[in-house]
Amino acid sequence: MVVASLDLEAVVHEERIRELISIPVIDLSWRREHASKEIVKACEKFGVFKVVNHGVPMDVVERMEAKGMEFFSLPENEKHKAGPPNPLGYGVRSIGFNGDMGDLEYLLLHTNPSSISQKARTICKSNPNNFSYVVNEYVEVVRDLACQVLEMLDQGLGLGNRGELSELLRDSESDSLLRLNYYPTCYNGFKDKSAGPGPGRVGFGEHSDPQLLTVLRSNNVSGLQIVVDTLEGEVWVPVPPDPSAFYIIVGDVLQAMTNGRLMSVRHRAMANPRSSRLSMMYFGAPPLHTSIRPLPGTVTPDAPRKYRTFTWGEFKKAMYSLRLGYNRLDLY
Ligand code: SIN
Ligand code: FE2
Repeated sequence: MVVASLDLEAVVHEERIRELISIPVIDLSWRREHASKEIVKACEKFGVFKVVNHGVPMDVVERMEAKGMEFFSLPENEKHKAGPPNPLGYGVRSIGFNGDMGDLEYLLLHTNPSSISQKARTICKSNPNNFSYVVNEYVEVVRDLACQVLEMLDQGLGLGNRGELSELLRDSESDSLLRLNYYPTCYNGFKDKSAGPGPGRVGFGEHSDPQLLTVLRSNNVSGLQIVVDTLEGEVWVPVPPDPSAFYIIVGDVLQAMTNGRLMSVRHRAMANPRSSRLSMMYFGAPPLHTSIRPLPGTVTPDAPRKYRTFTWGEFKKAMYSLRLGYNRLDLY
């Protein structure tokens, strides 16, 4: 009895902590200098923030979402023709690290227009040109948003590196990706409806994103959670869905390039027990040969250099071979 009531106290306490934490919201119509400073604060404290008044046309977002849903609604055998994920294409599998595993379906594309048009032929046989058009259009608007955020980070950090980070994403050899994740409704932990509604379970296990930054948008279904370090220890905090907004997530490369000042955030996605969830992530990455080293001004006598220089290609290779979900920067 005593143990049970202590457990309950702990749960209630964690719930209270969660209520006290709110993910920062940045309004891009704010004065630029103010917004830039707030972005830096959000990246230092949480490694994630929500962007509103972002100027991205919602019809572009809706067209991309509709294409994604059209694809995930196809019969299994049709979807598998867009695979196998190597790593690009369609995949359905358990993803997770350190035992935190789950199931989801996904479509992973390189954002290079020629790669998109090549993949479109297997993903959307009925109208590959239209599929490519919709994906390219979406990639363009989210890349612009990512670049705008990176330029504001330059300004907010006060390092005078204006444009250096965003140029990496605009480079024609940028290794950026677009990923659509589809989490079927999770009935008591099973896909089968007869199991009845039950608690959510992990869909995409705990990890940090390896790239510079991620632009995430989901339908109006909850699932995304981040780890927040509190005085009482680490707590999983749900990120409320907002289909009219985007979430920006700091990746490992941005952490390395700011010498650890901005933090890549550990996160996961839960499958929802009531509705299926679709999320769309643009992962902004530099070209493979890019040397990742701290930006001028980030290494000071008070902040000695934390990571040695590595290329994005090397980092990616280590990530795939070692299957590390986070703390990959510890290798450097
Ligand atoms: C991810 O972190 O890559 C998945 C997040 C999501 O599906 O919301
Ligand atoms: Fe992620």
